[in-house]
Amino acid sequence: MSKYVLQGGRKLRGELAVHGAKNAALPLLAATILGAGESVLHGCPHLSDVDAAIRILDYLGCGARREGDTVIVDTLNLTHFDVPEELMREMRSSIVFLGAIVSRLGKTRLSFPGGCEIGTRPIDLHLMALRALGLQIKDEHGYLDCSVDGRLKGAPVTFSFPSVGATENTMLAAVMAEGVTTITNAAREPEIIDLAQFLNKCGARISGAGEGTIVIEGVERLHGAEHTVIPDRIAATTYLCGGAVTQGDILLTNVVPAQLASVLTVFEQAGCDVRVRENAVRLLAPKRLRAVDAIRTMPYPGFPTDAQAPIMAMLTLAEGSSMFVENIFESRYKHVPELIRLGANIKTEGRVAIVEGVPKLTSAKVSATDLRGGAALVVAGLAAEGETQVDGLRHIDRGYDGLEENLIKLGAAIRRK
Ligand code: EPZ
Repeated sequence: MSKYVLQGGRKLRGELAVHGAKNAALPLLAATILGAGESVLHGCPHLSDVDAAIRILDYLGCGARREGDTVIVDTLNLTHFDVPEELMREMRSSIVFLGAIVSRLGKTRLSFPGGCEIGTRPIDLHLMALRALGLQIKDEHGYLDCSVDGRLKGAPVTFSFPSVGATENTMLAAVMAEGVTTITNAAREPEIIDLAQFLNKCGARISGAGEGTIVIEGVERLHGAEHTVIPDRIAATTYLCGGAVTQGDILLTNVVPAQLASVLTVFEQAGCDVRVRENAVRLLAPKRLRAVDAIRTMPYPGFPTDAQAPIMAMLTLAEGSSMFVENIFESRYKHVPELIRLGANIKTEGRVAIVEGVPKLTSAKVSATDLRGGAALVVAGLAAEGETQVDGLRHIDRGYDGLEENLIKLGAAIRRK
């Protein structure tokens, strides 16, 4: 099993372009199913989760091929309506294919995506919304058998929680439904806006994406389109954390600063000098970071739960005590025991974590147990004195495109073994 070997203490300096967003690319790939024809997605990151989504498209009969950062998908002739369990299990967010397939074919059969390391990941909001649009869903033996007579019917949908995936699934199911769908308390993440922009290029009629209420006027059919995936705001945050913990000076390009507002505030509170340009962010780190009183993860535009782990790794070295409250997922502190092995001083109680800053971290062998927790261990390893090893890279490879190459470009001593 491959692992990273990091020599800590090297300052990160230099410029890096951030790759396309995993959490935009995945729903966009599912959305290509809707338009019978060819779609072209530029800026598709090289990630194992993206490869898994391409395998699902291949199974469904879509021709999907990659040319560098571009993925070309031909969805003219679909040959399957189901998604086999082994493909569903590869990536739990494959549930987003449900809305896309039933929208195009009127039926599908796929297995429950199941939980993961950060929580049980229920899909009750997805199923509630799709049933509201008229989808018949039989849920037994771990499978969802879904069908609708004729077309789905537009309807009002209200979410008790602004679920990203449930909002995406509802959009994908509603764009070719008969009539109007209104989604109230919709997720407002930038990835939702990106999906709406692609679907509108394909001929959909969506308004309000990025606000709390999205209105979708169903159309008869969609066609393919060309689109560029938005930058990955969580990968950007991770690299900024690397600069912050190594007294570095890094310039990130291909970022949308407005999408990073809630995390840039934290870097400034921690004593970093953050300079924003149109599509770039420069971070100059202080000699010693300052603690941040309270960081509460919230739905967008609040502080993103995916940034919690890397930011926590950064604040293990800050002067003073920082408090985290993880409001989104019920078990998203699995990186804490591993950070403690590196010398961090962290206490957790339920959804609260208290980080007492320490003057230095010391090397150790640590294991990634989930995507962002693994990224946090890399951030800590960049600062820890000595040689740190991080294994469980299959988690990190799901969401970071060329992590070691990019860190080496910025001056880090890291290699994959
Ligand atoms: C998306 O997951 C992201 N994944 C996650 O990123 C991200 O952490 C999350 O949104 C929140 O921003 C992708 O986009 C592929 P949710 P998703 O539905 O859609 C509860 C990463 O590291 N919920 O907004 O699954 C759920 O239990 C990943 O890149 C229900 O109760 O997130 C959780 O507590 C991790 N019922 C909360 O809502 C439902 O039907 C947020 O979930 C659905 C969700």
